[in-house]
Amino acid sequence: MTKTLVIEAPAKINLMLDIKEKRSDGYHELETIMHQIDLVDRIYIKKDSRISVNSNSQEIPNDSSNLAYKAAQLILQTYGCGEGADIFIEKNIPVGAGLAGGSTDAAAVLKGINILYNYDISHENLAHISARIGSDVPFCLQGNPRIMMDEALEKESLKAKNKNGITGATCVARGRGELLTPLQTRFMPWILLVKPDFQLSTAEVYGKFKMENVHIIPDLNAFIKAWEIYDIIELSHYCENVLETVSAILYPEIMQIKENLEALGAVKATMSGSGPAVFGIFSQPEDALKAQQVMKQSYSETYLVSSYGRGD
Ligand code: C5P
Repeated sequence: MTKTLVIEAPAKINLMLDIKEKRSDGYHELETIMHQIDLVDRIYIKKDSRISVNSNSQEIPNDSSNLAYKAAQLILQTYGCGEGADIFIEKNIPVGAGLAGGSTDAAAVLKGINILYNYDISHENLAHISARIGSDVPFCLQGNPRIMMDEALEKESLKAKNKNGITGATCVARGRGELLTPLQTRFMPWILLVKPDFQLSTAEVYGKFKMENVHIIPDLNAFIKAWEIYDIIELSHYCENVLETVSAILYPEIMQIKENLEALGAVKATMSGSGPAVFGIFSQPEDALKAQQVMKQSYSETYLVSSYGRGD
């Protein structure tokens, strides 16, 4: 029987995003806080003689333009001896939303193939490969996602893999996004995510960014201080994203969603990454539940989520 490894691939939100400068290589020098949430894709991986990618979504490609395919190609070419992988993506994370859906699938494929083929590649070497796939992939490699295997025999060794608990990551990311400083694990229970009915291209949003349009400069140090003392209300005040100066101007609906979430009781609502997904942080469960009901009427892609993993 062919074993199937199943690994969760959590989405991320950018709790804060600042751009320091445009670099000579065309990328933007970032200072951002990335945080994994419990909106997950599930990646099913089987050993095979060639690489194939399939999914339950019409919105993602099945060829080498899929980051999961690229990840499989890179790891198998570098560490394999001609083997392949049969990959199925159960897509739950909205596509083109600023939630790193493609990047997290790629990171899960790297982790999954490493386990399935017993390559024993160090985290450092996986991180090196991940940076070649995309700027968000190194972050997505952080944390300990849930991993399952469909054969009883493997259960014991997987228990070992999951032994540190299922934990999500939070990091300060600098450089292109690949230079990571992990922050302490903090659990935010009430995050309402709203994705309007359009997608944005990351390259286009960054391409239109102009420093002179930024009027609120995110305060990383104040955010980290509030994070360390676990003051969710205080840290929410520092959730700012300078890319809103592009995306929310192109699509005023983004600003409208932010205003709606805050009117419904969010301590703060901010766009994630290059957008258009917006998250609202709530301190009161009843506000979050009510806001979910209201936003769902206008936006089918409304998700009430929390931070990924509680160490369980
Ligand atoms: O690295 P990745 O391929 O995910 O980035 C997509 C695009 O987003 C890049 O081609 C670039 O235009 C833009 N980008 C950027 N600065 C970053 C990350 C991404 O300009 N730090």
